[in-house]
Amino acid sequence: MSGLSGKRVLLIVAGGIAAFKVPELIRLLRGKGCGVTCVLTEAGRQFVTPLTLQALSEAKVYGDLFSLTDESEMGHIQLSRSADLVVVAPATADILAKMAAGLAGDLASTLLLATDKPVLVAPAMNVRMWLHAATQANLALLAARGVRSIGPDEGAMACHEFGPGRMSEPPAILAAIERLLDPPQLLKGRHALVTSGPTHEPIDPVRYIANRSSGRQGHAIAAALAALGARVTLVSGPVGIADPAGVSVRKVETAEEMLAACRAALPADVAVCAAAVADWRVANASGGKIKKRPGVAAPTFELVANPDILATLAAAGPQRPRLVVGFAAETDDLLANAQAKLARKGCDWIVANDVSPASGIMGGDENAVHLVTATGVEDWPRMPKQLVAERIAARIADVLA
Ligand code: C5P
Repeated sequence: MSGLSGKRVLLIVAGGIAAFKVPELIRLLRGKGCGVTCVLTEAGRQFVTPLTLQALSEAKVYGDLFSLTDESEMGHIQLSRSADLVVVAPATADILAKMAAGLAGDLASTLLLATDKPVLVAPAMNVRMWLHAATQANLALLAARGVRSIGPDEGAMACHEFGPGRMSEPPAILAAIERLLDPPQLLKGRHALVTSGPTHEPIDPVRYIANRSSGRQGHAIAAALAALGARVTLVSGPVGIADPAGVSVRKVETAEEMLAACRAALPADVAVCAAAVADWRVANASGGKIKKRPGVAAPTFELVANPDILATLAAAGPQRPRLVVGFAAETDDLLANAQAKLARKGCDWIVANDVSPASGIMGGDENAVHLVTATGVEDWPRMPKQLVAERIAARIADVLA
Protein backbone atom coordinates (compact mmCIF):
# COMPACT_ATOMS: atom_id res chain seq x y z
CA MET A 1 0.00 0.00 0.00
CA SER A 2 1.30 3.46 -0.88
CA GLY A 3 2.27 5.83 1.92
CA LEU A 4 -0.03 8.37 0.29
CA SER A 5 -3.05 6.13 0.76
CA GLY A 6 -5.66 7.89 2.89
CA LYS A 7 -3.76 11.20 2.84
CA ARG A 8 -5.46 14.35 1.53
CA VAL A 9 -3.99 17.02 -0.73
CA LEU A 10 -5.62 20.40 -1.27
CA LEU A 11 -4.54 21.31 -4.79
CA ILE A 12 -4.67 24.99 -5.72
CA VAL A 13 -4.60 25.49 -9.48
CA ALA A 14 -3.61 29.01 -10.55
CA GLY A 15 -3.75 30.56 -14.01
CA GLY A 16 -0.82 29.44 -16.11
CA ILE A 17 -0.43 27.35 -19.25
CA ALA A 18 1.18 24.62 -17.10
CA ALA A 19 -2.29 23.96 -15.66
CA PHE A 20 -2.62 21.48 -18.54
CA LYS A 21 -0.32 19.17 -16.53
CA VAL A 22 -2.58 19.23 -13.45
CA PRO A 23 -5.03 16.51 -14.61
CA GLU A 24 -2.04 14.14 -14.90
CA LEU A 25 -0.89 15.07 -11.36
CA ILE A 26 -4.38 14.37 -10.01
CA ARG A 27 -4.43 11.02 -11.83
CA LEU A 28 -1.08 10.05 -10.27
CA LEU A 29 -2.20 11.09 -6.77
CA ARG A 30 -5.51 9.24 -7.05
CA GLY A 31 -3.61 6.19 -8.30
CA LYS A 32 -1.72 6.20 -4.98
CA GLY A 33 -4.98 6.34 -3.03
CA CYS A 34 -4.48 10.01 -2.12
CA GLY A 35 -7.59 12.19 -1.83
CA VAL A 36 -7.45 15.40 -3.88
CA THR A 37 -9.62 18.48 -3.42
CA CYS A 38 -9.09 21.17 -6.06
CA VAL A 39 -9.40 24.91 -5.74
CA LEU A 40 -9.37 26.60 -9.13
CA THR A 41 -8.64 30.33 -9.34
CA GLU A 42 -10.51 32.62 -11.74
CA ALA A 43 -7.39 32.75 -13.96
CA GLY A 44 -6.94 28.98 -13.66
CA ARG A 45 -10.38 28.48 -15.25
CA GLN A 46 -8.98 29.97 -18.45
CA PHE A 47 -6.62 27.00 -18.76
CA VAL A 48 -8.43 24.00 -17.31
CA THR A 49 -12.12 23.38 -16.66
CA PRO A 50 -13.70 22.62 -13.28
CA LEU A 51 -15.38 19.64 -14.92
CA THR A 52 -12.04 18.04 -15.84
CA LEU A 53 -10.67 18.50 -12.32
CA GLN A 54 -13.90 17.26 -10.76
CA ALA A 55 -14.01 14.14 -12.96
CA LEU A 56 -10.41 13.20 -12.16
CA SER A 57 -10.43 14.09 -8.46
CA GLU A 58 -13.91 12.63 -7.97
CA ALA A 59 -14.61 15.57 -5.68
CA LYS A 60 -16.23 18.97 -5.79
CA VAL A 61 -14.03 21.73 -7.19
CA TYR A 62 -14.02 24.98 -5.20
CA GLY A 63 -13.47 28.43 -6.59
CA ASP A 64 -15.69 31.05 -5.07
CA LEU A 65 -14.81 32.58 -1.70
CA PHE A 66 -18.29 33.99 -1.31
CA SER A 67 -20.34 30.96 -2.34
CA LEU A 68 -22.84 30.47 0.44
CA THR A 69 -23.35 26.83 -0.50
CA ASP A 70 -19.65 26.14 -0.20
CA GLU A 71 -19.45 27.99 3.11
CA SER A 72 -22.36 26.04 4.57
CA GLU A 73 -20.91 22.77 3.27
CA MET A 74 -17.33 23.46 4.24
CA GLY A 75 -15.96 26.81 5.40
CA HIS A 76 -12.76 27.94 3.71
CA ILE A 77 -10.74 27.50 6.89
CA GLN A 78 -12.01 23.95 7.27
CA LEU A 79 -11.08 23.23 3.64
CA SER A 80 -7.38 23.70 4.40
CA ARG A 81 -7.54 22.12 7.85
CA SER A 82 -8.90 18.85 6.49
CA ALA A 83 -5.89 18.48 4.16
CA ASP A 84 -2.50 16.98 5.07
CA LEU A 85 -0.70 19.15 2.52
CA VAL A 86 -1.52 22.18 0.37
CA VAL A 87 -0.01 22.09 -3.13
CA VAL A 88 -0.02 25.09 -5.47
CA ALA A 89 0.46 23.94 -9.07
CA PRO A 90 1.04 25.82 -11.19
CA ALA A 91 2.29 28.52 -8.79
CA THR A 92 2.26 31.64 -10.93
CA ALA A 93 4.25 34.81 -10.20
CA ASP A 94 0.94 36.38 -9.19
CA ILE A 95 -0.06 33.80 -6.58
CA LEU A 96 3.49 33.69 -5.16
CA ALA A 97 3.37 37.49 -4.76
CA LYS A 98 -0.03 37.23 -3.07
CA MET A 99 1.31 34.58 -0.69
CA ALA A 100 4.39 36.66 0.14
CA ALA A 101 2.27 39.75 0.77
CA GLY A 102 -0.41 37.89 2.74
CA LEU A 103 -3.23 38.97 0.43
CA ALA A 104 -6.57 37.21 0.79
CA GLY A 105 -8.81 38.53 -2.00
CA ASP A 106 -10.00 35.19 -3.33
CA LEU A 107 -10.52 31.64 -2.09
CA ALA A 108 -7.05 30.36 -3.08
CA SER A 109 -5.11 33.17 -1.40
CA THR A 110 -7.41 33.12 1.65
CA LEU A 111 -6.77 29.41 2.10
CA LEU A 112 -3.04 29.92 1.78
CA LEU A 113 -3.14 32.62 4.45
CA ALA A 114 -5.36 30.58 6.76
CA THR A 115 -3.71 27.18 6.49
CA ASP A 116 -1.61 25.65 9.24
CA LYS A 117 -0.56 22.76 6.99
CA PRO A 118 2.70 22.38 5.04
CA VAL A 119 2.60 24.10 1.65
CA LEU A 120 4.41 22.98 -1.52
CA VAL A 121 4.56 25.27 -4.55
CA ALA A 122 5.44 24.24 -8.12
CA PRO A 123 6.35 27.55 -9.81
CA ALA A 124 5.61 27.99 -13.50
CA MET A 125 6.01 31.21 -15.45
CA ASN A 126 7.88 33.00 -18.20
CA VAL A 127 11.65 32.91 -17.68
CA ARG A 128 11.92 36.69 -17.19
CA MET A 129 9.12 36.69 -14.68
CA TRP A 130 10.88 33.86 -12.83
CA LEU A 131 14.25 35.62 -12.83
CA HIS A 132 12.75 38.98 -11.81
CA ALA A 133 14.05 40.22 -8.46
CA ALA A 134 10.49 40.52 -7.15
CA THR A 135 9.70 36.84 -7.81
CA GLN A 136 13.03 35.70 -6.38
CA ALA A 137 12.52 37.85 -3.26
CA ASN A 138 9.01 36.45 -2.84
CA LEU A 139 10.31 32.88 -3.12
CA ALA A 140 13.07 33.56 -0.58
CA LEU A 141 10.55 35.06 1.84
CA LEU A 142 8.20 32.11 1.42
CA ALA A 143 11.08 29.64 1.91
CA ALA A 144 12.02 31.43 5.15
CA ARG A 145 8.43 30.94 6.29
CA GLY A 146 8.64 27.23 5.59
CA VAL A 147 6.99 26.98 2.16
CA ARG A 148 8.64 24.18 0.15
CA SER A 149 9.09 24.39 -3.58
CA ILE A 150 9.78 22.06 -6.48
CA GLY A 151 11.21 23.32 -9.76
CA PRO A 152 10.82 25.11 -12.04
CA ASP A 153 12.59 23.10 -14.74
CA GLU A 154 14.61 24.61 -17.52
CA GLY A 155 13.61 24.22 -21.16
CA ALA A 156 11.63 25.54 -24.09
CA MET A 157 8.57 27.48 -22.98
CA ALA A 158 5.12 28.08 -24.44
CA CYS A 159 6.12 31.74 -24.93
CA HIS A 160 8.95 30.66 -27.31
CA GLU A 161 11.67 31.50 -24.82
CA PHE A 162 14.16 29.16 -23.22
CA GLY A 163 15.24 28.95 -19.59
CA PRO A 164 13.97 28.17 -16.11
CA GLY A 165 10.23 28.58 -15.67
CA ARG A 166 8.61 25.33 -16.81
CA MET A 167 6.57 23.65 -14.12
CA SER A 168 8.11 20.38 -12.92
CA GLU A 169 6.62 17.28 -14.50
CA PRO A 170 3.80 15.58 -12.57
CA PRO A 171 5.93 12.52 -11.54
CA ALA A 172 8.51 14.88 -9.97
CA ILE A 173 5.77 16.80 -8.13
CA LEU A 174 4.32 13.48 -6.96
CA ALA A 175 7.76 12.46 -5.64
CA ALA A 176 8.07 15.77 -3.75
CA ILE A 177 4.60 15.21 -2.24
CA GLU A 178 5.64 11.68 -1.20
CA ARG A 179 8.82 12.99 0.45
CA LEU A 180 6.66 15.35 2.53
CA LEU A 181 3.76 13.06 3.37
CA ASP A 182 5.61 9.76 3.56
CA PRO A 183 9.32 10.43 4.28
CA PRO A 184 11.73 7.51 3.69
CA GLN A 185 12.37 5.64 6.96
CA LEU A 186 16.14 6.19 6.84
CA LEU A 187 16.55 5.95 10.61
CA LYS A 188 14.48 2.82 11.17
CA GLY A 189 16.10 0.70 13.89
CA ARG A 190 18.10 3.65 15.30
CA HIS A 191 17.64 5.16 18.74
CA ALA A 192 17.91 8.94 19.07
CA LEU A 193 18.20 10.76 22.39
CA VAL A 194 17.18 14.44 22.35
CA THR A 195 17.25 16.97 25.19
CA SER A 196 15.02 20.02 24.96
CA GLY A 197 13.67 22.99 26.89
CA PRO A 198 15.08 24.79 29.92
CA THR A 199 15.79 23.32 33.32
CA HIS A 200 14.32 24.72 36.53
CA GLU A 201 16.70 24.88 39.48
CA PRO A 202 14.80 25.33 42.75
CA ILE A 203 15.49 28.17 45.17
CA ASP A 204 12.75 26.95 47.48
CA PRO A 205 9.58 24.89 46.84
CA VAL A 206 7.91 27.75 44.91
CA ARG A 207 10.79 29.64 43.29
CA TYR A 208 13.36 28.58 40.73
CA ILE A 209 16.08 29.77 38.35
CA ALA A 210 15.13 29.28 34.70
CA ASN A 211 15.79 30.67 31.22
CA ARG A 212 13.81 31.70 28.14
CA SER A 213 14.19 28.46 26.15
CA SER A 214 10.82 27.41 24.66
CA GLY A 215 11.85 23.86 23.69
CA ARG A 216 10.61 24.49 20.13
CA GLN A 217 13.88 23.61 18.39
CA GLY A 218 14.58 20.46 20.44
CA HIS A 219 11.00 19.22 20.16
CA ALA A 220 11.06 19.83 16.38
CA ILE A 221 14.29 17.81 16.11
CA ALA A 222 12.71 14.94 18.05
CA ALA A 223 9.71 15.03 15.69
CA ALA A 224 11.91 15.19 12.57
CA LEU A 225 14.00 12.20 13.71
CA ALA A 226 10.81 10.23 14.46
CA ALA A 227 9.45 11.14 11.00
CA LEU A 228 12.53 9.41 9.52
CA GLY A 229 11.68 6.26 11.47
CA ALA A 230 14.00 6.62 14.52
CA ARG A 231 12.91 5.51 17.97
CA VAL A 232 13.21 8.77 19.86
CA THR A 233 13.58 9.46 23.57
CA LEU A 234 12.97 13.12 24.29
CA VAL A 235 14.18 14.31 27.70
CA SER A 236 12.40 17.58 28.21
CA GLY A 237 12.60 20.29 30.82
CA PRO A 238 9.42 22.23 31.69
CA VAL A 239 7.91 23.63 28.46
CA GLY A 240 4.57 25.01 27.40
CA ILE A 241 4.38 23.16 24.09
CA ALA A 242 2.81 19.80 23.18
CA ASP A 243 4.75 16.53 23.16
CA PRO A 244 5.70 15.57 19.60
CA ALA A 245 3.74 12.61 18.23
CA GLY A 246 5.43 9.22 18.12
CA VAL A 247 8.17 10.11 20.61
CA SER A 248 8.79 8.78 24.19
CA VAL A 249 8.95 11.82 26.44
CA ARG A 250 10.71 11.87 29.84
CA LYS A 251 9.75 15.02 31.73
CA VAL A 252 12.32 16.45 34.12
CA GLU A 253 12.81 19.67 36.07
CA THR A 254 16.47 20.02 36.98
CA ALA A 255 19.80 19.46 35.21
CA GLU A 256 20.61 16.57 37.52
CA GLU A 257 17.29 14.89 36.68
CA MET A 258 17.94 15.52 32.97
CA LEU A 259 21.35 13.85 33.19
CA ALA A 260 19.89 10.85 35.04
CA ALA A 261 17.13 10.47 32.41
CA CYS A 262 19.71 10.67 29.60
CA ARG A 263 21.94 8.04 31.20
CA ALA A 264 18.92 5.78 31.69
CA ALA A 265 18.02 6.16 27.99
CA LEU A 266 21.42 4.91 26.73
CA PRO A 267 22.46 3.23 24.53
CA ALA A 268 21.60 5.57 21.69
CA ASP A 269 22.94 5.92 18.15
CA VAL A 270 22.75 9.70 18.26
CA ALA A 271 22.34 12.29 21.02
CA VAL A 272 21.17 15.81 20.22
CA CYS A 273 21.51 18.12 23.21
CA ALA A 274 19.27 21.07 22.41
CA ALA A 275 18.24 21.78 26.02
CA ALA A 276 19.23 25.10 27.58
CA VAL A 277 20.53 23.52 30.77
CA ALA A 278 21.03 25.89 33.70
CA ASP A 279 24.75 26.20 34.29
CA TRP A 280 24.32 26.51 38.04
CA ARG A 281 21.95 25.33 40.72
CA VAL A 282 21.34 26.76 44.15
CA ALA A 283 23.49 24.92 46.69
CA ASN A 284 21.60 26.27 49.67
CA ALA A 285 18.06 25.83 48.29
CA SER A 286 15.51 26.00 51.10
CA GLY A 287 13.20 23.10 51.94
CA GLY A 288 10.47 25.57 52.94
CA LYS A 289 9.25 28.78 51.28
CA ILE A 290 11.65 31.60 52.08
CA LYS A 291 9.68 34.35 53.83
CA LYS A 292 10.38 38.05 53.54
CA ARG A 293 10.28 39.68 56.93
CA PRO A 294 10.49 43.39 57.68
CA GLY A 295 14.00 44.33 58.72
CA VAL A 296 15.54 41.00 57.60
CA ALA A 297 18.11 41.25 54.81
CA ALA A 298 17.41 39.71 51.38
CA PRO A 299 18.68 36.13 51.15
CA THR A 300 21.90 35.31 49.33
CA PHE A 301 22.29 32.15 47.31
CA GLU A 302 25.34 30.07 46.75
CA LEU A 303 25.50 28.57 43.27
CA VAL A 304 27.26 25.35 42.27
CA ALA A 305 27.95 24.13 38.73
CA ASN A 306 25.52 21.68 37.19
CA PRO A 307 26.77 18.57 35.40
CA ASP A 308 27.40 19.13 31.69
CA ILE A 309 25.08 16.61 30.02
CA LEU A 310 26.51 17.05 26.52
CA ALA A 311 30.11 16.59 27.69
CA THR A 312 29.09 13.62 29.83
CA LEU A 313 27.39 11.87 26.88
CA ALA A 314 30.35 12.65 24.61
CA ALA A 315 32.70 11.03 27.14
CA ALA A 316 30.51 8.02 27.90
CA GLY A 317 33.11 5.47 26.67
CA PRO A 318 31.48 2.36 25.24
CA GLN A 319 28.07 3.97 25.89
CA ARG A 320 28.94 7.04 23.79
CA PRO A 321 26.40 7.56 21.00
CA ARG A 322 28.04 7.34 17.55
CA LEU A 323 27.09 10.94 16.88
CA VAL A 324 26.87 13.58 19.61
CA VAL A 325 25.44 16.95 18.62
CA GLY A 326 25.41 20.07 20.77
CA PHE A 327 24.07 23.59 20.41
CA ALA A 328 25.82 26.87 21.02
CA ALA A 329 23.54 29.80 21.74
CA GLU A 330 25.76 32.87 21.80
CA THR A 331 25.33 36.61 21.75
CA ASP A 332 28.96 37.42 20.76
CA ASP A 333 31.78 35.80 18.73
CA LEU A 334 29.41 33.05 17.62
CA LEU A 335 31.68 30.93 15.45
CA ALA A 336 34.83 31.22 17.56
CA ASN A 337 32.85 30.22 20.64
CA ALA A 338 31.15 27.36 18.78
CA GLN A 339 34.48 25.98 17.55
CA ALA A 340 35.96 26.17 21.05
CA LYS A 341 32.85 24.43 22.41
CA LEU A 342 33.18 21.58 19.90
CA ALA A 343 36.64 20.80 21.28
CA ARG A 344 35.81 21.46 24.93
CA LYS A 345 32.68 19.28 25.00
CA GLY A 346 34.12 16.48 22.86
CA CYS A 347 31.06 16.38 20.61
CA ASP A 348 30.96 15.80 16.84
CA TRP A 349 28.86 18.76 15.69
CA ILE A 350 27.82 22.07 17.16
CA VAL A 351 24.73 23.81 15.83
CA ALA A 352 25.54 27.46 16.50
CA ASN A 353 22.94 30.20 16.68
CA ASP A 354 22.89 33.88 17.53
CA VAL A 355 20.52 34.51 20.42
CA SER A 356 21.14 38.22 20.87
CA PRO A 357 17.78 39.93 21.57
CA ALA A 358 17.92 41.64 18.15
CA SER A 359 17.88 38.24 16.38
CA GLY A 360 14.41 37.40 17.81
CA ILE A 361 15.42 33.72 17.81
CA MET A 362 15.07 32.81 21.50
CA GLY A 363 11.40 31.85 21.91
CA GLY A 364 10.64 32.71 18.26
CA ASP A 365 9.66 30.44 15.34
CA GLU A 366 12.73 30.95 13.16
CA ASN A 367 16.38 30.12 13.52
CA ALA A 368 19.56 31.00 11.59
CA VAL A 369 22.21 28.41 12.35
CA HIS A 370 25.73 27.41 11.41
CA LEU A 371 26.72 23.75 11.45
CA VAL A 372 30.20 23.51 12.95
CA THR A 373 32.07 20.22 12.51
CA ALA A 374 35.71 19.17 12.70
CA THR A 375 35.99 19.81 8.96
CA GLY A 376 34.47 23.30 8.76
CA VAL A 377 31.47 25.58 9.10
CA GLU A 378 28.28 25.58 7.01
CA ASP A 379 26.06 28.68 7.13
CA TRP A 380 22.39 27.81 6.73
CA PRO A 381 19.87 30.48 5.70
CA ARG A 382 17.32 31.73 8.23
CA MET A 383 14.36 29.35 8.21
CA PRO A 384 11.61 28.04 10.50
CA LYS A 385 12.80 25.88 13.40
CA GLN A 386 10.91 22.98 11.87
CA LEU A 387 12.97 23.17 8.68
CA VAL A 388 16.21 23.50 10.68
CA ALA A 389 15.11 20.34 12.50
CA GLU A 390 14.39 18.48 9.27
CA ARG A 391 17.75 19.48 7.86
CA ILE A 392 19.60 18.37 11.00
CA ALA A 393 17.67 15.06 10.94
CA ALA A 394 18.56 14.54 7.27
CA ARG A 395 22.25 15.15 8.05
CA ILE A 396 22.08 12.70 10.94
CA ALA A 397 20.52 10.15 8.57
CA ASP A 398 23.44 10.68 6.15
CA VAL A 399 25.80 9.54 8.92
CA LEU A 400 23.73 6.77 10.51
CA ALA A 401 21.73 5.29 7.65
O1 C5P B 1 28.23 25.50 27.60
P1 C5P B 1 26.98 25.85 26.91
O2 C5P B 1 25.77 25.88 27.82
O3 C5P B 1 27.04 27.08 26.06
O4 C5P B 1 26.76 24.65 25.89
C1 C5P B 1 25.61 24.48 25.15
C2 C5P B 1 25.45 23.03 24.78
O5 C5P B 1 25.76 22.17 25.86
C3 C5P B 1 24.03 22.69 24.41
O6 C5P B 1 24.05 21.63 23.48
C4 C5P B 1 23.44 22.25 25.74
O7 C5P B 1 22.32 21.38 25.56
C5 C5P B 1 24.61 21.52 26.35
N1 C5P B 1 24.67 21.59 27.81
C6 C5P B 1 24.43 20.46 28.56
N2 C5P B 1 24.54 20.51 29.93
C7 C5P B 1 24.89 21.65 30.56
C8 C5P B 1 25.14 22.82 29.81
C9 C5P B 1 25.02 22.75 28.44
O8 C5P B 1 24.10 19.42 27.98
N3 C5P B 1 25.00 21.67 31.86
